[in-house]
Amino acid sequence: MRVIPISSGKGGVGKTTFALNLALSLSKHHKTILLDLDTGTSSLRHFVDLPFENDLFHFFKKDISLKSCLTKLDKNIDPENLFSNFSMIASPKNFIHDIVNFSKDNKIKLIRSLNKLDADYLIIDHKAGLDDDILDFLPTGNTGILIFTPKIKAATLSAAEMVKASLLRVFNLLLNLDKYGKFSKETMYKRELSALENILLDFESSYDEEQNFDDLIVKLEGVHKDRFIIQIVKNYLKNYKVYFVLNQFNDVKESTKDIINPFIDKIYKSVSANISITNLGWIMDERMVEKSAEYGIPYMVMKRYQEKKKSLIKNDWEIDLMESLGLAQPKKKTERIVKKTATNEMDRQLDLLKDMITDDKENDPEQNFNYIADRIKMMGKSSIHDLGMKVIQSKEDIINRLFFALKKSKK
Ligand SMILES: Nc1ncnc2c1ncn2[C@@H]1O[C@H](COP(=O)(O)OP(=O)(O)OP(=O)(O)O)[C@@H](O)[C@H]1O
Ligand SMILES: [Mg+2]
Repeated sequence: MRVIPISSGKGGVGKTTFALNLALSLSKHHKTILLDLDTGTSSLRHFVDLPFENDLFHFFKKDISLKSCLTKLDKNIDPENLFSNFSMIASPKNFIHDIVNFSKDNKIKLIRSLNKLDADYLIIDHKAGLDDDILDFLPTGNTGILIFTPKIKAATLSAAEMVKASLLRVFNLLLNLDKYGKFSKETMYKRELSALENILLDFESSYDEEQNFDDLIVKLEGVHKDRFIIQIVKNYLKNYKVYFVLNQFNDVKESTKDIINPFIDKIYKSVSANISITNLGWIMDERMVEKSAEYGIPYMVMKRYQEKKKSLIKNDWEIDLMESLGLAQPKKKTERIVKKTATNEMDRQLDLLKDMITDDKENDPEQNFNYIADRIKMMGKSSIHDLGMKVIQSKEDIINRLFFALKKSKK
């Protein structure tokens, strides 16, 4: 299973719209589950007009299995059962304190059950904001998918904050290795860890926007050159990947000026100039996408039936044939070497965007969702830095993995 969280740091940028329609697009050929983790104000219920017999309330409070909380589209929405591979898990209808703010036990219970679900993709729709309940469901080596829109410019900078918070979370867990007693006898590790801890504390509480993780590593190296922990931190940072999608996209120039450039600039300045940033695509600003939420029928479903009616849609066997001939796949881009300056990275992003637009001439949101779904299907799945994650890891899992990595590097 590939778990892909969708987050933004700010509200109203289109997380739910994107998560829902991406999941539907993926479900055309893969078993896909959409998890609604907007546990306070579940908007999925407004986007899809279904009775939702069981939801996370029943899972946490009534001991119903998570599998029994899976809800499929019904006959009113999908009369021909075209999206039979798609199902969702809704959040509770009402505010329930220990579900909105997960208790430790609830969180572990949910993570364990999610990891046991049988699906090819699990897409997570997060709530707005930035707290542990969001961070704990993000991958450790990449961001999952961040969403921005030129309509809400402030969201761009909070997405960059999310990247920083996500990295700090892993570094802080690294520090926990000592607290968990993993190194009780190894004084060298202890010294390295306490140097890291002091520098991290300074960094976390600093308002200096120009200080980033690259500076932090230089400081650490000043204290303990060539030590294992520094190597791990360095490698981790070098391989960390940021993935994003532009929603309500309307103009290359505007999006580049208002969104992409400030985002890259902020990441370079406050996180690191060594991180790779991948634009997965964009979604056009389209009234029908907005309307679909009002009707309670997802845009991708409305569109599929509309096209079927017009007999414009290709049969499934044709799609399969095209895919097997490689015709429906977006062109694979040759990777260019990223030089470590924000200007180069901004130019690269602009070129990528232009390439993508040229590739995808019939530009409507349905094509946009399918394009991103196709790119996701082609992405690597072996490293923790590839988009998403294989399973959701608890803090204990991450600590054990970090410990294992340290031990290995020592050999
Ligand atoms: N591509 C689009 N074209 C037109 N309208 C859109 C598009 N994407 C989202 N919208 C509209 O923007 C509004 C906000 O979208 P959505 O609820 O998906 O955002 P969100 O990030 O999930 O918000 P929240 O943080 O409150 O959960 C909705 O009214 C939705 O219909
Ligand atoms: Mg939402």
